[in-house]
Amino acid sequence: MTTTASSKLAIKGGPRSVPTDMKWEVWPPITADDEAMVLASLRQNAHAWGPNCTALQDEWAAWNGNKFCAATNSGTAALHMGVAACDIGAGDEIITTTLSWTSSATSILHHNAIPIFVDVEWRTMLIDPAKIEAAISPKTKAILPVHYWGVPCDMDAIMDIAKRKGLMVIEDACQAHGSLYKGKKVGTFGHCSAFSLNQNKNLCGGEGGMYVTDNEELYVKGRALMNFGEMRAPESKRDFHAYGMGWMYRTSDLPAAFARAQLKSLTKNNATAVESWNRLDKGLEGSPNLVRPFSTKDQSTNGYAYVIRPDPAYAKKRGVKLGALRDGIVSALAAEGVPMGAARWLLPAHTVFQAKNGYGHGCPWSCDFTRAGISYDLDQYKVGIDCVDSCIWLSVNSHRPPNGATQVDAVIKGVRKVFDNLDEVPVA
Ligand SMILES: Cc1ncc(COP(=O)(O)O)c(C=O)c1O
Repeated sequence: MTTTASSKLAIKGGPRSVPTDMKWEVWPPITADDEAMVLASLRQNAHAWGPNCTALQDEWAAWNGNKFCAATNSGTAALHMGVAACDIGAGDEIITTTLSWTSSATSILHHNAIPIFVDVEWRTMLIDPAKIEAAISPKTKAILPVHYWGVPCDMDAIMDIAKRKGLMVIEDACQAHGSLYKGKKVGTFGHCSAFSLNQNKNLCGGEGGMYVTDNEELYVKGRALMNFGEMRAPESKRDFHAYGMGWMYRTSDLPAAFARAQLKSLTKNNATAVESWNRLDKGLEGSPNLVRPFSTKDQSTNGYAYVIRPDPAYAKKRGVKLGALRDGIVSALAAEGVPMGAARWLLPAHTVFQAKNGYGHGCPWSCDFTRAGISYDLDQYKVGIDCVDSCIWLSVNSHRPPNGATQVDAVIKGVRKVFDNLDEVPVA
């Protein structure tokens, strides 16, 4: 292919695809409702566990279709509450995925339990249900699937294994507010689930989380952790007695007020994010050596993130390492003005697992209750490694409202140009 003036990559001195004066709005858009509700929270005097906290619980349970919800100060806390609620004890094993944010695995460790990582499917980047059964041991108590990048896991397959093997299921829906599995919202399939309200998420409270379940016993057991080990709801009469291990995982009134206000726009904002996601996907159709992200009618994204990957076969043919190719593409995209970055999160590769340095003295892996010979040898996670070596994601504010077609079309132009001229992308 001959290089024309307009196709010459910006990294090689050609023109930028995205104009320098392109306006990227920040996420989330702040509405008059946000301002009014946050100000009203400030002007009342229950700043710790206030009226917005209990209202957020009710409203989230209603929006998502859960019977019970506890409003926490993070998604990590909500995950840990789920682990504890499922009666997971020291040395018990929980099966989770190789690709996610750290907390999907460390929340297991927080309860002295052992994460067992199961590799992902290349196409979906989600836990591979076909590999779960081989990872089950006599110590396995639960599966913790992650709806990664906002795409639902194959919940029928996971719930079928769990039922047959007598395992609990804790859904990590921290990135997946409103993602649909076979038309039904995630966070309603497992025994309990966790959502995050961190700024990057489709529903933002600044920070925060929500623990949900339909089972009253799991609700009460999970909630005990958020309140110093006390068994009562924060708003009810307290006896200030620790009935078991407890943390301080409650949210407070200001972030709850912000999240409640944002919740009013969630359905609309999700629809716009999905529209942009689809526009990106259509616009990148046919780009050579570009693997587009997964989302189908049955496993349908909430538009949380748009993630592209170069085809590993191209790296092989060119004789370069996949991770080096990914880095070269990210630099070329940056030069074009496209805000995309590498996502390097292979869970078992974190030092906490490689060095087994959780609680000191080798605990919990050296604990008497733990099965001997737990290995985090990275050779077990070949698909996950290929995914992290190739994943390039569009920064969250680029395709979410109030950004839209203008920003998305600029991204498409830049990405197409880089992939159309992939042979020209410098790779170290
Ligand atoms: C998949 C996943 N799990 C868990 C978490 C933890 O949520 P938080 O940051 O609210 O603790 C996050 C958010 O970063 C996440 O993306």
